Amino acid sequence: MRSISITGATGQIGTELTMALRERYGDDNVIASGLKNIPDAVLRSVGHFHFIDCTQRDQIEKVVKKHKVDTIFHLAALLSAVAEDKPTLAWEVNVGGLYNVLEVAREYGCAVFTPSSIGAFGPSTPAEMTPQDTIQRPTSMYGVTKVSGELLCDYYHARFGVDTRGVRYPGIISYKAPPGGGTTDYAIEIFTSALAHKKYTCYLKADTMLDMMYMPDALKAAIDLMEADANRLSHRNAFNVTAMSVTPEILAAEIRKHIPEFEITYEIDPVRQAIADSWPDKLDDTCARKEWNWAPDYDLNSMTADMLRNLSDNAGQGRTSDACLT
Ligand code: NAD
Ligand code: SER
Repeated sequence: MRSISITGATGQIGTELTMALRERYGDDNVIASGLKNIPDAVLRSVGHFHFIDCTQRDQIEKVVKKHKVDTIFHLAALLSAVAEDKPTLAWEVNVGGLYNVLEVAREYGCAVFTPSSIGAFGPSTPAEMTPQDTIQRPTSMYGVTKVSGELLCDYYHARFGVDTRGVRYPGIISYKAPPGGGTTDYAIEIFTSALAHKKYTCYLKADTMLDMMYMPDALKAAIDLMEADANRLSHRNAFNVTAMSVTPEILAAEIRKHIPEFEITYEIDPVRQAIADSWPDKLDDTCARKEWNWAPDYDLNSMTADMLRNLSDNAGQGRTSDACLT
């Protein structure tokens, strides 16, 4: 990876992945891009930044040509709750955008990293120790786009030899950039609300079990997979990866170890609850462990302590989500 382009670089994962890649590959070699929102000052001040709408193939191509890009980390997407609200736009961005990226990658010989999601599974998928290769009949628009994306990436690798790779991320927990409108966002809001108000009203039921991962592990997964020896990869796209499985009440109990007065109440959002109920409880990530030595560094205990410590340190530096499209 000598010249890297990132789409969706101002999002929750993109903000931190851009900085992690710049640290590893050099500021000048990592070209960040966002849709239309003003990027974080750090993203602008260090290294290149372009505005790219991934539904416009020429905008992707221009940056690839200009910077002789050999690797694209394609993070631009609509997350599950936003996608359910805007299904047509979700299809255009999540599938149309990926198609454009893969076409440019085919023409210019780029490798492509694209995240899939636990959302690529549905209610007929085994929920416990969900296998790498299993039934995928998602019932959300987000899930439909993610399965389509997995298949597109497989196709471009098999048919055109494009070096496509990807993981099925679980809910990603982080404190630097806000989440973009997913079903798992509660697992971030609960921390900020616990620190600010010592209470949180959760939109998912107390016993809703979902896979989660702390951001440093999500960054490690993306970089390690793209650096992995291709000869060891028999799956390539959509590797199951996970770090912990939690419910809102488990997370609340862990936070109470640090903030004993913390209280959680529940006001269920039927749309996000239905999406969460259709997703697995716990992924089996054996294939990722075997094929590229995947292993998370953070569990529930260490993630919670680190989140609370960093959010306390950063208190007062408010940021707003850039994911709301008008
Ligand atoms: P995010 O919503 O925070 O960021 C996505 C970015 O894409 C936003 O900055 C948004 O402005 C941008 N975008 C939207 N439409 C665009 C367009 N037409 N052209 C260019 N950019 C556009 O999302 P994220 O959490 O950073 O997710 C990144 C990827 O990881 C997505 O593919 C997502 O599905 C996947 N993922 C995320 C999670 C998670 O918990 N964060 C979990 C599983 C998978
Ligand atoms: N965190 C993501 C979402 O809830 C999972 O893909 O949409």
